Amino acid sequence: MPVRQSAPNEVGADVANPRVATASANANIALIKYWGKADEELIIPRASSLSLTLDGLTSRTTVEFFDKVDGEEDADVAGGSGSGVDCREIYDYIKSADSLTIDDVPQQGKALDRVSRFLDIVRAQSGLHLPARVVSHNTVPFGAGLASSASAFAALAAAASKAAGMDLSPRDLSRLARRGSGSACRSVFGGLVQWHAGHDDETSYAEPVDMGSLDLAVIVVLVSSDLKPVSSREAMRRTVATSPLYPAWVESCAVDLDEALNAIRQGDLERLGAITEANAFGMHAAMMASRPAVLYWLPDTVAVLRAVDGIRDSGLGAWSTMDAGPNVKVLADARDARAVAAALRERVPQCEVEIHRPGSGVRLH
Ligand code: DP6
Repeated sequence: MPVRQSAPNEVGADVANPRVATASANANIALIKYWGKADEELIIPRASSLSLTLDGLTSRTTVEFFDKVDGEEDADVAGGSGSGVDCREIYDYIKSADSLTIDDVPQQGKALDRVSRFLDIVRAQSGLHLPARVVSHNTVPFGAGLASSASAFAALAAAASKAAGMDLSPRDLSRLARRGSGSACRSVFGGLVQWHAGHDDETSYAEPVDMGSLDLAVIVVLVSSDLKPVSSREAMRRTVATSPLYPAWVESCAVDLDEALNAIRQGDLERLGAITEANAFGMHAAMMASRPAVLYWLPDTVAVLRAVDGIRDSGLGAWSTMDAGPNVKVLADARDARAVAAALRERVPQCEVEIHRPGSGVRLH
């Protein structure tokens, strides 16, 4: 069954081919972390989380559903009805024609499979049973704990749903993005964002949180951009299943989230910073207590954590957080960001240091 492919296209609302759309999304850094699923299939988390979407860590993704599969009537392929052909065979065939290119490198195996499975959700929701070509460009290093899956799946959800003819509300788009990667539901929105854990597909979504008087920056300290030894998905599963510290950490998240939201309302960065740092250390403690242990830290991770301590002791506000990788992100007041970055460059000259400001939510082009 050969597939007729149309020419590559990077333009959003193409009149000749309305089944193409391009979207961009930024990565986000969690202040109160998401770590552990209550439902693996729907990606419902064990606890609500809070994040800051950052500028400059972007995925820009084009999704193009091919015109049709040769040898099938439109109605059979797009609607899946009445031909007597086994729909599952057609769907499997359609899926096998999906393609994925990331930063000009064609992908196969796990990466393509994960995107294809996500596209299945879009195909099922939209009724458009066609294969898709996905082309993505990123300014986020992959798999190094810099939230690449958040920007990737937020952009993919927006582009794929639009290309499939769906017009989702921001909340429904966040629910869809969540199915690709949990943290992606937060990247649908800019600035501070809360992901309500909920208990099912309907009730688990993200929404923006008013930043009030806070003027935030995050200084990313790149310890290593090597691929992490254990994927966050696997590490999360292992922590939930084997870490004796995990239940206590989940419990602490609800308290931390309330306190963080209060601190935001009061414009109290010192309080927000302290909770952010404590929550991240709690998550890593729970990971390290897994069996076998999940240890993402490298010697330079500890060097950066100590440097941040020292910077704070010297009177500048700076607080650390870490995700599923060795890199450290430092929360600070935007007005102190340059001074904090300079102090970090002095104290850990071996690490790259980059200042990020709050970024916008998902955008269609
Ligand atoms: C440590 O969203 O990548 O960054 O839902 O399995 O795709 P999946 O996990 P993912 O996990 C992110 C975990 C984290 C903390 C956070 O962003 O809240």
